[in-house]
Amino acid sequence: MAFSRLFTKLFAILLISSTICSIYIAADVVKGKWFNRIVLIIFENTNASVAFADPYFQGITKRQDGVYLSQFYAVAHPSEPNYVAQIAGSTYGIFDDNNYDINATTLVDLLEKKNITWKGYMENYPEKCFLNATVGASRLYARKHNPFFTFTTITKDSKRCAKVVNGSRLDDDIANNQDNWALGSLNRNDSKATPFTKYLVELK
Ligand SMILES: *[C@@H]1O[C@H](CO)[C@@H](O)[C@H](O)[C@H]1NC(C)=O
Ligand SMILES: *[C@@H]1O[C@H](CO)[C@@H](O)[C@H](O)[C@H]1NC(C)=O
Ligand SMILES: *[C@@H]1O[C@H](CO)[C@@H](O)[C@H](O)[C@H]1NC(C)=O
Ligand SMILES: *[C@@H]1O[C@H](CO)[C@@H](O)[C@H](O)[C@H]1NC(C)=O
Ligand SMILES: *[C@@H]1O[C@H](CO)[C@@H](O)[C@H](O)[C@H]1NC(C)=O
Ligand SMILES: *[C@@H]1O[C@H](CO)[C@@H](O)[C@H](O)[C@H]1NC(C)=O
Repeated sequence: MAFSRLFTKLFAILLISSTICSIYIAADVVKGKWFNRIVLIIFENTNASVAFADPYFQGITKRQDGVYLSQFYAVAHPSEPNYVAQIAGSTYGIFDDNNYDINATTLVDLLEKKNITWKGYMENYPEKCFLNATVGASRLYARKHNPFFTFTTITKDSKRCAKVVNGSRLDDDIANNQDNWALGSLNRNDSKATPFTKYLVELK
């Protein structure tokens, strides 16, 4: 715990996209009280001070609607339990990056109970409910960043499994019919500007 407080491993960007999306979208998603859509994009893997030196991140808190949650800490190290906890409210005792298949309910169950639509965007994910830890020679896709697949309540349900898609689809979905709630994760390349960062610029 002391370790994780020193190292803010996860840097989460919450895009509240109701304003921009309402321009383009004939919304058929459930209406929220304060906003209709959220896209949560998880960036790794550095301290907040380092992240804020990046031009993409620099301006965020200066925006009229920008907020820096300085007490939002990772719950564990390494990556996987942090992602798992974000959709399940618990690490389920996971403290490594291995594959797990846990039969438990998640945020997905709560959302669906209220007909709130959702999707997961995973960079380099080959789709079709592909459950391996990674794929291909580049090994860029990282199941350890894909918390949805830790839960058999999602992987064994073909409809739910199909809601986890390749990250490159976020662009089209934002322009067309973005779901109420979405979580986007990056691949395992920590040393780059990801295509996801462009949404920080676009969603003004
Ligand atoms: C993050 O912060 C910790 C503690 O302040 C420091 O030891 C570490 O070197 C920093 N890491 C990076 C990547 O800046
Ligand atoms: C998960 O557990 C429930 C009982 O709590 C059971 O009905 C269900 O079949 C299990 N699902 C899987 C995929 O194992
Ligand atoms: C969800 O949608 C179903 C089917 O349209 C409807 O019967 C149900 O009342 C809705 N539930 C909520 C909480 O709105
Ligand atoms: C997934 O998206 C990446 C770009 O992020 C693309 O290069 C790749 O071809 C896509 N893969 C599949 C299987 O759609
Ligand atoms: C997925 O994992 C299985 C079992 O390790 C392996 O046989 C298969 O080749 C892998 N598939 C891909 C596309 O990497
Ligand atoms: C990782 O990102 C760096 C910086 O953008 C890039 O030069 C490198 O090719 C990337 N690696 C892979 C395997 O995509």
